Amino acid sequence: MTADLIRQSLERLAERHGDPTAQVYAHLFAARPDAEDLFVGDRTGAARGEMLAQAFDALLDLADGGDQGARLIAIERVNHEGLGVPPEVFADFFPVVAEVVREGLGEDWTAATATAWAALTERARQLAEGA
Ligand code: HEM
Repeated sequence: MTADLIRQSLERLAERHGDPTAQVYAHLFAARPDAEDLFVGDRTGAARGEMLAQAFDALLDLADGGDQGARLIAIERVNHEGLGVPPEVFADFFPVVAEVVREGLGEDWTAATATAWAALTERARQLAEGA
């Protein structure tokens, strides 16, 4: 049920607005201006695109009850500390993604969809902070 709502919301976002990468990073850098400097080496945007794609996969896997998503988050939390991204900043990425989905869906962001995303982003936040 939760997984279906998450999947449907991401499909609807893609149908309506195409690739959400630009919006996600605009939101991230508005919330965390310091984070933008970390991406100076990513001239083509390939790392940003790949990071978001992997974050979506991790979220979908978490929603499905798999363990790959949790494993990826645990590994990337450590990798990102090496990049200069502390766990609490790393954890901020998930609510940013949820916010972009909410904005993109407009009236189709139902109470059930909101509940599904709240539960999922809370779980992702706990994993991202090492809980
Ligand atoms: C605010 C939070 C985050 C910041 C500031 C951040 C920052 C970065 C930066 C700067 C890079 C590029 C490193 C390079 O130049 O090669 C990167 C790569 C990456 N990030 Fe994040 N990250 C965040 C959250 C996340 C999250 C939550 C995930 C997913 C679980 C994730 C997954 C990845 C992956 C998989 C890559 C490698 C992409 C590639 O193959 O090039 N990141 N991140």
